[in-house]
Amino acid sequence: MIKIDISNVWGSVEFGDLMAMEKEVAAAHTALSEGKGAGSDFLGWMNLPTREPTAEITRIQAAAEKIRANSDVLVVIGIGGSYLGSRAAIELLQGPNRNIGRGRGDPQIFYAGNSLSTRHWNELCRLLDEKDFSIAIISKSGTTTEPAVATRALRWMLERKYGTDGARERIYAITDPIKGALRQMAGEEGWETFSIPPSVGGRFSVLSPVGLLPMAVAGIDILELLSGSMEAKECYDLRSYENPVWLYAAIRNLMYRRDKQIELFESFEPGFQMFGRWWQQLFGESEGKNGKGLFPVTAEFTADLHSLGQMIQQGRRNLFETMLRFDPPEQRFTVGSDVKNLDGLNYLSGKQLDFVDESAYLGTVDAHVDGGVPVITMDCGTLNARKVGELFYFLELSCAVSAYILGVNPFNQPGVELYKRNMFSLLGKPGYEKL
Ligand code: PA5
Repeated sequence: MIKIDISNVWGSVEFGDLMAMEKEVAAAHTALSEGKGAGSDFLGWMNLPTREPTAEITRIQAAAEKIRANSDVLVVIGIGGSYLGSRAAIELLQGPNRNIGRGRGDPQIFYAGNSLSTRHWNELCRLLDEKDFSIAIISKSGTTTEPAVATRALRWMLERKYGTDGARERIYAITDPIKGALRQMAGEEGWETFSIPPSVGGRFSVLSPVGLLPMAVAGIDILELLSGSMEAKECYDLRSYENPVWLYAAIRNLMYRRDKQIELFESFEPGFQMFGRWWQQLFGESEGKNGKGLFPVTAEFTADLHSLGQMIQQGRRNLFETMLRFDPPEQRFTVGSDVKNLDGLNYLSGKQLDFVDESAYLGTVDAHVDGGVPVITMDCGTLNARKVGELFYFLELSCAVSAYILGVNPFNQPGVELYKRNMFSLLGKPGYEKL
């Protein structure tokens, strides 16, 4: 279980407030588990964890093996919940530079269809030049503009390179089992498909083929990951404050009620950045509605201590932090000794880098708490595929419980549609002529 340390929130939150909130947390968790809360048509994510390989998981593994064998690169086409989860897991487990030095047998993973930037497109074309590649097109609705534009272009690139039959062997579509343009296109063109259950929303889909296919191509043991999420499903069902889900959901709502408007989600791992962005989408899109919600911001320390640190320490006191900690890896790095000691670093010689990191973490927490910024720490233990599966489920459950306490439906995103309507109108999409 992830251990939550809330010793650094007292002062902003009183113990009595936490106790007084217990009934609300219990009611939110019960509404969720009994399917009686808002948006209960979208609870399919709670059934995604498993320990046993289903027929679909075996098919995902087979497709991943094929891509690993015939491609230097997999391009994952998708936006929002359709790519953030897999990218989060891959970079957290394998590092932000994982693509360097990889190729056939252990492909590079690039992402497309998450922007409308021509520069990004040009760069992708350069990176794909002379490379054998496959594409995974991921869109629940099958109609989102950004991935649709990228799909059309990349599919044609594949067809020019390998012919229609050859391209068909390199195109995978992950979408609704019945509806949408992508489903129809995949059926007509004979592409291999995987389904996103209709009851699973985009940002809750990482444990479905949406996240699993790219992760398997990256070489992540998806059964281990799913097994971690299954363990989480069992152990985080606990109905008391011994459950870290309860503590996290309760404290963030108490913070919100004490006029803390911003939650910073942080870690001291550079590979954490995309995981932070997955969390940001999960909580932002689930809670930010009806004029409510904490604004989710992600930061990576120590790098961002040199950018956001000043604001956190002395800016407006309207934020709190949630910090993820992982055990150091087995392979350690020790600071060396230098005879001249011109840099004055010999006081650290013989010390391991993770000791320096731990001191930075402890020093940061102390400084921020002294400066009036409460800190929740999540001690996650060993970082591996199993842990990432646990974290995904833990955070999804925390988000749903927290949103129910806040009084919003976590499973819709009506606000996202508005920019699309305006854009379609400006682009002259049939049916959207008037703003
Ligand atoms: O959480 C969500 O539902 C969204 O972020 C979607 O994942 C995102 O808008 C992409 O939608 P689609 O998968 O339909 O292309």
